[in-house]
Amino acid sequence: MNAPTTPDTAPDPLVWLNGEMTPLAEARVPVLDRGFIFGDGIYEVVPAYALTPDGAAAPVRVPFRIAHHLARLERSLGKVSIDNPFDEQGWRDLIAQVIDANERAGAIARDVHAIVYIQVTRGVAKRGHAFPAGIRPTVFTMVTPLVLPGDAQRASGVRCVSAEDRRWLHCDIKSVSLLGNVLMAQHAAEHDAAETIQLRDGFVTEASSSNVWVVRDGVLYAPPLSNRILEGIRYGLLEELAAECGIRFEAREIDEATLRAADELMISSATKELLPVTELDGRPVGSGEPGPVYAALFAAYQRAKARAASECAAVATQEEVKR
Ligand code: PDD
Repeated sequence: MNAPTTPDTAPDPLVWLNGEMTPLAEARVPVLDRGFIFGDGIYEVVPAYALTPDGAAAPVRVPFRIAHHLARLERSLGKVSIDNPFDEQGWRDLIAQVIDANERAGAIARDVHAIVYIQVTRGVAKRGHAFPAGIRPTVFTMVTPLVLPGDAQRASGVRCVSAEDRRWLHCDIKSVSLLGNVLMAQHAAEHDAAETIQLRDGFVTEASSSNVWVVRDGVLYAPPLSNRILEGIRYGLLEELAAECGIRFEAREIDEATLRAADELMISSATKELLPVTELDGRPVGSGEPGPVYAALFAAYQRAKARAASECAAVATQEEVKR
């Protein structure tokens, strides 16, 4: 079943920029922000589902795998020597504040899934490549509705194309310097495909904004974690879900022949969850239909969301009791 959507007449989202909450259309950063000039910044994308736990009357807001997302944000900031402006609780409070403001303003309905976008750049300084001393990071948080892939797309699977990975060699950093990824996404769009699956030196890395999964003889494979791919938050999650489903998982290099001989192919990301790829470069993947490993993992993913919703509801009840 597809989730309800926020009506088109909904007000502009409220965003948080350097301590102030403003309508999205009014938020401004100086042109000398190093995010604008150099792509010198880090970002995160966190799904915040609206889910109704079993037995509850109303939905709760579930920032899914939030601890993992905030740990990755901390790691990415550390790798480029930008001070993390908040500790984990500070980020959690900020995210809750921005979601709450948008729900109150009617910009996001309480029963609609949302996506939280966080960006931290090194800050504003006279143009010069090396890090300037004594500047404060620019901090931006935005929450917008999340439209998950619909039932029809899940039933048919999506089309992908492949291309050589020409990005830099720090793909483990969730950097806003995304030109390489942008070009790959455009390549997909021009071929009427959902994603471009990239290969470096003959081995699969990742897609333009998602991780790649291959199934062969019932075993689930993903490229090993390295500087050549982003550690998607769904990477660890799917590893756990595969164990839950009794599906063997192996992180190992996937060469082009293995990719093209896959029984099943999938992509994962915060905005897609897990999607079956049923056509690659114009040829069917396996049977040409979503396979059993996808079906098992997608169902397990939905169970993980339901568990997270129950946990959020339990925490909310405990906080009520304390008050
Ligand atoms: N992209 N690899 C790349 C290059 C990505 O950009 C993403 C996510 C992923 C999957 O990571 P996760 O499971 O944490 O979403 C892998 C986000 C959704 C984006 O840029 O919008």
